[in-house]
Amino acid sequence: MHPKVSVYIATSLDGFIARLDGRLDWLEHDSGGEDYGFQNFFDSIDTRVMGRGTYEFVAASGEWPYEGKRTIVLSSTLNDRDVAEHLVGKLEILSMEPVDLVELLAGAGARHIYVDGGITVQRFLRAVLVDELILSRMPVLLGSGIPLFGDLDADVQLEHVETQGFPSGLVQSRYRRYVPLSDSSRGGI
Ligand SMILES: NC(=O)c1ccc[n+]([C@@H]2O[C@H](COP(=O)([O-])OP(=O)(O)OC[C@H]3O[C@@H](n4cnc5c(N)ncnc54)[C@H](OP(=O)(O)O)[C@@H]3O)[C@@H](O)[C@H]2O)c1
Repeated sequence: MHPKVSVYIATSLDGFIARLDGRLDWLEHDSGGEDYGFQNFFDSIDTRVMGRGTYEFVAASGEWPYEGKRTIVLSSTLNDRDVAEHLVGKLEILSMEPVDLVELLAGAGARHIYVDGGITVQRFLRAVLVDELILSRMPVLLGSGIPLFGDLDADVQLEHVETQGFPSGLVQSRYRRYVPLSDSSRGGI
């Protein structure tokens, strides 16, 4: 069975995941201790796939809150020698098409993959590989930034599962990929 592929990501109301310089200051807010379901989600995944841009942000933070999860960094420009010293042995750098990566991970026994990063998510969406999209929207307009969504070769049909509003103003919607009844071979949803 194919692993389930999920995106759990936060955007501004106008659809940006970061400012143009990568800053995430607009995401900081008083959540009142609410984690918006992230820990439950994170506990459910076994593999994390992120793009180089996201990796560089995480590496610069000096933290690595992904212990115990197989972590793939997608990049055609980085190699193993570029891995930050404190992250050596904690991640793999690969360059391959999303469909091939999912096949590779499926063969290695992955059951639930968390895909992260703007360009990376766009490439997985374009390949129609995202089974679940958990989108948290912050009540702020940035006007410009790194977009979550981009060009597609064809419409990607999604089903709305639920939307929850929080006192902080964050609104979280969960979607799953629309799977025609005739195609029951994919997903774990
Ligand atoms: N708001 C949120 O929840 C959230 C979540 C995650 C990230 N972010 C922010 O988003 C920013 C990063 O986003 P981003 O748009 O730069 O996207 P990204 O997906 O993190 O990184 C893009 C890079 O990943 C590599 N890549 C992606 N798919 C590949 C493939 N199939 N094969 C080989 N390489 C591949 C390419 O690197 P090469 O150029 O090296 O080939 C590409 O330039 C950061 O500022 C981060 O903090 C925000």
